[in-house]
Amino acid sequence: MKLTLLGAAGGIGQTLALLLKLNLPAESELALYDISPVTPGVAVDISHIPSAVKVKGYAGDDLDKALEDAHMVLITAGLARKPGMTRADLFNINAGIIKNLVEKVAEICPKACIGIVTNPVNTLVPIAAQVLRNKGIYDKRKLFGVTTLDVVRAKSFVSELKHQNPTTVKVPVVGGHSGPTILPLLSQALSRGLKIELRKEEIEYLTHRIQNAGTEVVEAKAGGGSATLSMAESGARFAIAVFKALLGDGCVRYAYVQTPEGSGLPEFFACQVRFGLEGVEEVLPLGELSAYEKAKLQEIDSILRDDIQKGLDFVNNESEKA
Ligand code: LMR
Repeated sequence: MKLTLLGAAGGIGQTLALLLKLNLPAESELALYDISPVTPGVAVDISHIPSAVKVKGYAGDDLDKALEDAHMVLITAGLARKPGMTRADLFNINAGIIKNLVEKVAEICPKACIGIVTNPVNTLVPIAAQVLRNKGIYDKRKLFGVTTLDVVRAKSFVSELKHQNPTTVKVPVVGGHSGPTILPLLSQALSRGLKIELRKEEIEYLTHRIQNAGTEVVEAKAGGGSATLSMAESGARFAIAVFKALLGDGCVRYAYVQTPEGSGLPEFFACQVRFGLEGVEEVLPLGELSAYEKAKLQEIDSILRDDIQKGLDFVNNESEKA
């Protein structure tokens, strides 16, 4: 089985490559691709680490070779935020990058699962879906936006506030991956399987912190970019779990995926998902929401629908121009 990482020489990509080299199942192939000529060097560098994952690096015009026979493609390529920017501000540059990369995936490895880390995730996943639809090969089981970092942050912030061991804490985070669309379901937070009781002010504080955690990093890095290390770690966790599911070891993870018809949710939404041999096997229900969460869910509905429509319009306008 082969995983191809696109954007492998970037701030997220290099760390993600390292974690994949260390943690993918033995005998997997890891292909690293970036336009940067340093990419084959990154592959040589991590190839010296003794793990049974075979790694190769590709740069510039060698995208086709990197994608050949890939079962999973993880995309981190694109621009990162600077202070004062929202994720949506990255749209103008990253939309074109994702469209071109997904067109290549459609051509070279049409059956591969695609995981999108690049922002704005809310809009880039619909772009990828529309590109694949136009090629007649869209399979909703095989496309997902990676939102694991929201879940990881929720776990960290709740355990910090409530003095819990983070490894015992579980907090669902649904919706999208930008500001208010990141919706932590704190009424369902558990520690060692038991409900974590949170006061109204704690819920408001945590919701705000989880929703703005990306910006917290962007501001702390003061012009040096956005989250790279935590994004790489959470992206690797997700990719490895899904890669193993493709090999038969199913898992349940949160991801931004196409929602089932009749769910009443926007067409794409981060939900708890059961992954299996073909990718998404089942999108699981949100569970019981508190009144606070129900109100937030209503607020984000139109934001997400607009984000999704923007992606679909982008691909349709580009096709008209062509
Ligand atoms: C994050 O959540 O840290 C990433 O999506 C990067 C960003 O721009 O916030």
